[in-house]
Amino acid sequence: AGTADLAGVRVVVSAGGTREAIDPVRFLGNRSSGRQGYALAATAAARGASVTLLSANVELPDPAGVDVRRVTSARELREAVLEGAATADVVVMAAAVADFRPDTVTASKIKKTAGTTPAPIALVENPDILAEVSRERARPGQIVVGFAAETDNVLDNGRAKLARKGCDLLVVNQVGDGRAFGTADNQAVVLTAEGASVEIERGPKEDVADQVWDLVATRIPGDTGS
Ligand code: C5P
Repeated sequence: AGTADLAGVRVVVSAGGTREAIDPVRFLGNRSSGRQGYALAATAAARGASVTLLSANVELPDPAGVDVRRVTSARELREAVLEGAATADVVVMAAAVADFRPDTVTASKIKKTAGTTPAPIALVENPDILAEVSRERARPGQIVVGFAAETDNVLDNGRAKLARKGCDLLVVNQVGDGRAFGTADNQAVVLTAEGASVEIERGPKEDVADQVWDLVATRIPGDTGS
């Protein structure tokens, strides 16, 4: 921190939470504020990286010196991530992506009809963007970082998820009981593909972001370890 140790590094960060349309006015969403992803983008830019922030439904000011692109749904986010990954050295998936979306989007607003129950909303699976980017590795040596919010068995679930997704680093947050979502502070453990785990101190999301970039920086070819 305080240095331009990420100068010349191209990063793509996703942030926020996707919205999956039900009808023209309704969606399935989640409570992600986007704060951790925005902090990751801001701190990377402050350390000299060239940053594209893919922002899904976030109400925060654009971080300074960052190219911000807005997306709504998981499928839009996927297109933007794949486009960005084509030229990125590091891809960080901090966004909360909906695992499922409504099978069909009704063209008209769903109406309430007295005495009837509405039809159930059938769901279909969304693409897993992190798994796809990790598998494809658009560029040799590209570093892929995932996030996981877990409520129970945080480490075991995190390790299983890292293996399943195939990313290099997985930042695991414990959530629930008011932790992490929408708050300024965060606390996490970073798991590596080699099986190491690094505790990140509880602190502001900017400090957590800096510690994540410290770990990423050690994996960048040519890094001097400073
Ligand atoms: O499986 P889970 O949703 O807990 O995994 C979280 C991680 O996977 C996050 O990095 C999130 O951005 C990413 N993800 C994704 N595409 C999905 C679901 C999650 O890229 N459809």
